[in-house]
Amino acid sequence: MPSPRILMCAPDYYGIEYEINPWMSKHRGSSPDRAQAQWRKLYETLVGLGVRVELMTPQPGLPDLVFTANAGLMFHQAFYSSRFRHEVRARETPYFDAWMGGAGYSVHTLPEGTFFEGAGDALFCGKSLFAGYRIRSDVQGHQYLGQALGRQVLPIELVNPYFYHLDTCFCPLAPGEAIYHPEAFDAYGRRVLEVHIPKLLAVGQPDAHRFGCNAVVVGKTVVMNAGCDELAACLRALGYTPVPVELDEFIKSGGSAKCLTLRLDGEEAAVWE
Ligand code: ARG
Repeated sequence: MPSPRILMCAPDYYGIEYEINPWMSKHRGSSPDRAQAQWRKLYETLVGLGVRVELMTPQPGLPDLVFTANAGLMFHQAFYSSRFRHEVRARETPYFDAWMGGAGYSVHTLPEGTFFEGAGDALFCGKSLFAGYRIRSDVQGHQYLGQALGRQVLPIELVNPYFYHLDTCFCPLAPGEAIYHPEAFDAYGRRVLEVHIPKLLAVGQPDAHRFGCNAVVVGKTVVMNAGCDELAACLRALGYTPVPVELDEFIKSGGSAKCLTLRLDGEEAAVWE
């Protein structure tokens, strides 16, 4: 199998400069040195796992450009660019699009008036695309994407403001297998997950609030924020190797391991025909 490829962007201009989710507090801020060290550790961990990590140039005035998961969604050689809900993040789009175009991907835009926040809200588990909506992305964006990709899209409403992107509360491990935080969804959303994913592991509130679901899965290795001990034990029992990386500086912005990465070979490269 070819080595996975991931896009990251160093936190040179990272900070808490606005508040667009309940985790962010301008007043509390973040430590640039700790953020750099933590990001580097994540980068080195992924490289050590055989991932080819591509790097984007950080841009002043774009503190959240580090969260490359929100750039858009990669499908084969096509990049579906995000339409951010908040203007402060929409300013990132020209940089993401330019990088993707320069790397040889075809860049596609969703219809005007739709909202879509990329791999943060759209995750493949097997052939189906699980799509979080309401807080950031909307249903129209996901429906457009389903048609464009020719894939089944399963919209799931996000009802808890602390879990405002789907990748903060749901993480596919393999086709038919995923972890999720039940309290981020309503009864209908939980039902959709239960019906479509036979092996579904619930993550309790303490680990979910440590962003345990915001993990990067590389084969049988799961890279996630440090301190999610109960989740780590469950993953081990399922045959996975959890790898903790301290990422609390990024949780101050509402992000962790997965948000800091974008799979360039597609989230589900393994199941593409
Ligand atoms: N501060 C960023 C925002 O609120 C964090 C993004 C986290 N990304 C993610 N894929 N969950 O937009």
